[in-house]
Amino acid sequence: MADIQSIFSRRLDPAWSRGEPSALLPDWTARHADLQAVSVEVAAASEAFVAALAAAPDAATVQAVRNAALSRENGAFTEALAMVPTLPVEEKRVLGRALNLGKQLIEAAEKARREALERLREDVGELDVTLPGRRPWRRRPHVLAQVRDELLDLFHGLGFSVYTSPEVELDRYNFGKLNFAPDHPARDAHDTYFVNPDVVLRTHTSPGWVRAMEERQPPLRLVFPGRVYRAEAVDASHMDQFHQIDGLAVGRNVSMADLKATLNTFARAIYRRDVPTRIIPIYFPFVEPGVQMDVQCATCAGSGRVQDEAGERRCPVCKGTKWVEVLGAGMVHPNVFRTVGYDPEQVTGFAFGMGLERIAMGRHGIHEIRQFLENDVRFLEQF
Ligand code: PHE
Repeated sequence: MADIQSIFSRRLDPAWSRGEPSALLPDWTARHADLQAVSVEVAAASEAFVAALAAAPDAATVQAVRNAALSRENGAFTEALAMVPTLPVEEKRVLGRALNLGKQLIEAAEKARREALERLREDVGELDVTLPGRRPWRRRPHVLAQVRDELLDLFHGLGFSVYTSPEVELDRYNFGKLNFAPDHPARDAHDTYFVNPDVVLRTHTSPGWVRAMEERQPPLRLVFPGRVYRAEAVDASHMDQFHQIDGLAVGRNVSMADLKATLNTFARAIYRRDVPTRIIPIYFPFVEPGVQMDVQCATCAGSGRVQDEAGERRCPVCKGTKWVEVLGAGMVHPNVFRTVGYDPEQVTGFAFGMGLERIAMGRHGIHEIRQFLENDVRFLEQF
């Protein structure tokens, strides 16, 4: 058997690294033990070749190790097998069996290593470093959330904090406590979704004032952002749900001048530094006097006319009126104060309410209100 050992050791190249055979062959331990039980020398030699295969860095090394063990001309196993017939019967049987087991192990290891190298090559093949990089998807707030956050930030700077109230609201809070008379036609203007006769989807964010005032004592300076619902026929400029921000300031000697200063500060921050504004009277049950604030139409620069390929014509945005409406406002109606238990002789207040969609549409030139809720990334990623 001494000859066998020298045959093997001559073929093992000391330059080969040694890997872990069981990493290459899952059943290595059992098969190696079987072989060891037959021949310790052949088992040791087989382990050396399999370890070299496990560490072979490329196909050429796999081939070199394989050849050293199994090549027809000068492989160690081939040479050892050639000696077998010259041995005594008993040794012949043992060595023949050991060499065949060893050969099988090395063949299996060679196959496993070739496959592993191939997989590695495919993985690396996917990484073409010359390809242009993929732009990572960057998250951003929805365009309406951007407008909302900008407004909340602005009002925060003016001393207003945020108060949120339910979207599913009691009819009394949406209407009654806001001084809508039971059968007043102003209710009809709100095209209400009813959950049941006493519960509605709020048609505006103003019910939040009532909840805040019932809960807290003046002075108050609050803003009320949120989603509101109206049973409107849906088209490019109407949705049955949209977003508002109301504001409310209550205290001693809060005046219309405070309201105008607040609204002008808002308009200059959100539109432009020198945007002309106007305030005209309008009816809302919960304010007296009630006003509407308009800003000068940006599309026609307040001329009411536009000039384009189609010629000179009426401005399509303001319809020739030179102004666009941006919000409703006014001084809180004394009846609303009485309902919440405030004394209208002691406190006064102003309030305002604006639609976020309208602001976002004006600012970004969006003409289709439905796009806000369609969740089409081609729309959303523009903002
Ligand atoms: N709540 C009113 C609406 O939705 C807007 C408004 C708010 C008007 C505050 C006046 C004061 O139409």
